[in-house]
Amino acid sequence: MYDYKLLMDKAKEASKMSYSPFSRFAVGASVLASGGKIYTGCNVENSSFGMTICAERCAIFKAVSEGEREILAVAIYSPNADDCNPCGACRQVMYEFQGDNDIEIITENMGELVVRRLSEYLPYGFKI
Ligand code: THU
Repeated sequence: MYDYKLLMDKAKEASKMSYSPFSRFAVGASVLASGGKIYTGCNVENSSFGMTICAERCAIFKAVSEGEREILAVAIYSPNADDCNPCGACRQVMYEFQGDNDIEIITENMGELVVRRLSEYLPYGFKI
């Protein structure tokens, strides 16, 4: 169990940096790495729509590029939707950096934090 509220506050802060002129759907994410550091990210869209990156992967890639290899928890927030859940691609990317723990995923629904596990979102994930 981690400081879920702190993680959600960081995801909220990150959502303010969202670059989403096409969907107008802002998302922010924060990632707690095994060493205790928190990384944040937002969705970054592109005129060539397929180049868009989700907030979760933005935060995870920031963490990995700083040397992290194990994720403990991810918080996701959108000011545009309650209970903003990770897309399938982001679930698979989380799975890649899951250690012995089952990653905790935190969303917010009507002001209440919801905590679920990656194994609920992605049973039988792929790993080489
Ligand atoms: N988006 C995320 O940032 N995370 C998700 O898990 C789902 C979707 C973004 C991508 C795009 O910029 C916008 O939300 C609408 O799909």
